Amino acid sequence: MENGEANITNKWRFNNASSNVNIDNNNNVTTDNSTKKSRGVTVREARTMIMENLNHQDQRPMLALAHGDPSIFPCFRTCQNAQDAVVQAISSGQFNSYGTAVGLLPPRKAVAEYLSRDLPYELSPNDVVLTIGCTQAIDIALSSIASPGANVLLPSPGYPYYDVFSAHIGLETRHFDLVPNNGWEVDLDCIEALADANTVAMVLINPGNPCGNVFTYNHLQKVAEVAKKLGIMVISDEVYGHLTFGSNPYVPMGVFGSIVPVITLGSLSKRWIVPGWRLGWLVINDPHAILQKYGVVDSIKRIASISADPASFIQGALPQILENTSEDFFTKVINILRHDADICYDKLQDIPCLICPHKPEGSMFVMAKLDLSRLDGITDDIDFCIKLAKEEKMIILPGVTVGAKNWLRITFALEPTSLEDGLERLKAFCQRHAATN
Ligand SMILES: Cc1ncc(COP(=O)(O)O)c(C=O)c1O
Repeated sequence: MENGEANITNKWRFNNASSNVNIDNNNNVTTDNSTKKSRGVTVREARTMIMENLNHQDQRPMLALAHGDPSIFPCFRTCQNAQDAVVQAISSGQFNSYGTAVGLLPPRKAVAEYLSRDLPYELSPNDVVLTIGCTQAIDIALSSIASPGANVLLPSPGYPYYDVFSAHIGLETRHFDLVPNNGWEVDLDCIEALADANTVAMVLINPGNPCGNVFTYNHLQKVAEVAKKLGIMVISDEVYGHLTFGSNPYVPMGVFGSIVPVITLGSLSKRWIVPGWRLGWLVINDPHAILQKYGVVDSIKRIASISADPASFIQGALPQILENTSEDFFTKVINILRHDADICYDKLQDIPCLICPHKPEGSMFVMAKLDLSRLDGITDDIDFCIKLAKEEKMIILPGVTVGAKNWLRITFALEPTSLEDGLERLKAFCQRHAATN
């Protein structure tokens, strides 16, 4: 480094390959790398941007109604059985080694048995790949279908990570509508209109994020039949599996695996309220072995073999978590979520500038449409959320980040008194900004 050697070249060839995300003066969400197509924004990135506007002089607690992680609230603490399972796995000294590419055998067997309880056929451990949360299951599923020219159909509104990761690996995305006035059901005609010879898969999220809907058995069967007709597989994100509290029960898409090949994605994160434990799964529901025949299973296993795997002790704890968690714990969580959903839906009815077309029946979210004509000085959903953060020290996700401009995605999975506090602040904000004419 002597004699200024470090300065010999001033033209380094590397740059920021992933580009930074900004909100410009017109509230457009953009990337600052003009040579790249905008890749969208993840929920985490959007939350961080909104949080920069919080007023730290405000002495009230910050309220986050923007993400699906209620683990900080005592009433959502995970069960003793799950905690004990992790402690025992660590204390046993048996899980200090590297894992295997697809995950250790006993936890894969446990996932196969856990999911088979709700299926008309038996899964085998060979159908299961253990992943670092459902996030890595998405990465592996999308990577396994990303060949040159291929495209995937995504729901809109949807979970933005699918767009972001597809852009990252160069997989084309096309968006089909979920219809708000029809319980957020899939617009099946839209699927048929979008698909072409290069379409390889469609993604479903059930129970839904961001819409809080739960698809009926009949609707899922229709989806399966359309997918079969088009010759595409279904990637079913069931990270909120079993978190339902309305009239529609949770039906796993794998039930229709005999009609169409299904790749199911899930994790411990939501049902056990431990998103920080980072344990998920990718499961092949394909009794006719079509994905095997077409090389998709090999592709999945190859990608898993070159990816990081979940920590061995979490894998070691998984059989006990899946087999021994009491129904009481699940029921308690569902009862709180149902109560929260009621509070949220009822309170939203009292806020004239917010229209909620569908009461949430599952997951942790509800979508509400902004009626901007009833507000003064608010230009759009991002402006609304930024001003809300500044004035009320609370975070809500602007709909544009989930593909629904001028909507809001509200998380109701909070300790109920905090949720009520948040909705009162939201109401006060809307009253203060109510149009005067
Ligand atoms: C629809 C959906 N899929 C996947 C994930 C990621 O799950 P995990 O935290 O298990 O990685 C989330 C997280 O919020 C989600 O909402």
